[in-house]
Amino acid sequence: LASIEFDTSTVAEGMAVTVKWRGKPVFVRHRTQQEIDEARAVPLADLRDPQTDAERATKPEQLIVVGVCTHLGCVPLGQKPSDPKGEFGGWFCPCHGSHYDTSGRIRKGPAPRNLEVPEYQYISDTVVRIG
Ligand code: FES
Repeated sequence: LASIEFDTSTVAEGMAVTVKWRGKPVFVRHRTQQEIDEARAVPLADLRDPQTDAERATKPEQLIVVGVCTHLGCVPLGQKPSDPKGEFGGWFCPCHGSHYDTSGRIRKGPAPRNLEVPEYQYISDTVVRIG
């Protein structure tokens, strides 16, 4: 499918789901205020691939990123409550040890870029169209 629609109200705060889009996993995380605050507090100068959190999340509480590590394409861990989330609270790629923050930005390890934000738009308060 070229685009998919997803109702973000189905994801409780602090939880995440994975949807398939163009054969790739897309992570939708309903961030807590603490996760949002952490993402916003990071100086751009600390980032390998500098992007503000506001650039990456149209609605701060909903982070939507492609779940493919930008190093060599593994699927990072961090979606399940029991998953390791890495040193920056977002995702951890176990293949070669890349750590992503609560905005999906690369913070440590070999990955060169942030987790990709797919094109998306909200078509209602809660329903997002990805692609
Ligand atoms: Fe993720 Fe190498 S594929 S760290």
